[in-house]
Amino acid sequence: MPQVPRDNRPDATLAFLADPYRFISKQCRAHGSDLFETRLMLRKTICMTGPKAARLFYDQSLFMRQGAMIGRIQKTLLGKGGVQGLDDEAHRHRKQMFMSLMTPERIEGLMATSGEEWQARACLWALRDEIVLYDELHELLTRAACAWAGVPLPEAQVRQRTHEITALFDAAGSVGLAHWRARWARKRADRWIENIVGQIRSGQIRPPEGSAASIIAEHRDLNGELLSPHVAAVEILNVIRPIVAVGVYITFVAHALHQFPECRRKLEAGDDTGYTELFVQEVRRFYPFFPAVAALVRGDFEWRGYRFPGRRRVILDLHGTNHDARTWDAPEVFQPERFREWDGSPFSFIPQGGGNHDVNHRCPGEWITIGLMKQAADVLARRIGYYVPEQDLQLDYSRLPALPRSRFIICRVREAASAPV
Ligand code: HEM
Repeated sequence: MPQVPRDNRPDATLAFLADPYRFISKQCRAHGSDLFETRLMLRKTICMTGPKAARLFYDQSLFMRQGAMIGRIQKTLLGKGGVQGLDDEAHRHRKQMFMSLMTPERIEGLMATSGEEWQARACLWALRDEIVLYDELHELLTRAACAWAGVPLPEAQVRQRTHEITALFDAAGSVGLAHWRARWARKRADRWIENIVGQIRSGQIRPPEGSAASIIAEHRDLNGELLSPHVAAVEILNVIRPIVAVGVYITFVAHALHQFPECRRKLEAGDDTGYTELFVQEVRRFYPFFPAVAALVRGDFEWRGYRFPGRRRVILDLHGTNHDARTWDAPEVFQPERFREWDGSPFSFIPQGGGNHDVNHRCPGEWITIGLMKQAADVLARRIGYYVPEQDLQLDYSRLPALPRSRFIICRVREAASAPV
């Protein structure tokens, strides 16, 4: 039986952290293989890339999630007890709770709320010399996410809660002090939402019917029990936090509008051809956000003659799969039109995970993400005018999440002369 190709470093954690988006695909290319084995945080790990590996990874008879999560990510980004660490029937049941929030009407409701926030912020930006777009998006999206989720956000708490929610994703991949700040933010955010859950259950707060806060606070697990206040808080934050994190993608939308002016011109001209959707999909494919996802092998099996031993940790390369030249022509070229030809495979384009939304761990927030990005593309290309001053727009690939170094500064914000009424 052939051996899974091995990386011969004693541990590759530092190499991974130095280039988290490209480490796996580069090593795979060096080994001439879709997979190789290394040690990450001293633990033996099989790293895989490409659509065939993605199809394998999402076979739930072979892989499980319980125990797969990297500790420091659980203690910051995700929290303990959430849907990400569940398997089988317990996972499907909890996942249905999230999927029930994603109806077209509910998503329209979020777009209306975020649209109002964009309008309010744009008026304030017009009064300032310049703004850092990424930073501004945190509060805009926190207000929209809490309002939509039915979580009360008193004006006096907006800044503090915005900082806490942002730290969960913006500092999750950091080391040192920033990581400890993210852990502290996780504790405070969990406590805040646990309190809200208690108030909903005691009738002190009545969130709108069908809102995330109402559905999750009242959700019952397979035994008919309410979720513990802590787990309910983690799941409500599993809705609010990623909505605020869409600000990373919106910053990339602004970046792409600036770097690829021919795309901007097509967006400015209007959207009769569905171009905005193609543009947003290409932003999700081209730019780095979530590098990889992890699972554990359930029990020994073989794939292409390679042995996968039970309990071995396996990591699937998301960014590299979105740049795999076997699927994507000229993957390093930004080309929205490529999505006219895309076959819709759930394993070749996986910025938010792959497989089936109801059954696999694929992100239930993809429609929201696409909606918020399209709305942002419309505002930035058609509704407001602005000037992009000289700045360092290079993407920092060693950061998690990667961002333009300047965080995208704009100035002279005004209503666009041609803004549609
Ligand atoms: C900001 C853009 C987003 C990115 C890059 C993103 C990415 C991802 C990724 C990579 C996964 C894991 C897939 C896997 O394990 O196989 C995931 C899962 C998840 N996402 Fe998102 N996501 C985003 C937005 C959202 C939004 C807007 C929501 C909800 C409103 C959301 C809620 C979730 C939940 C609850 C899960 C866990 C699903 C499960 O374990 O079954 N995400 N996301």
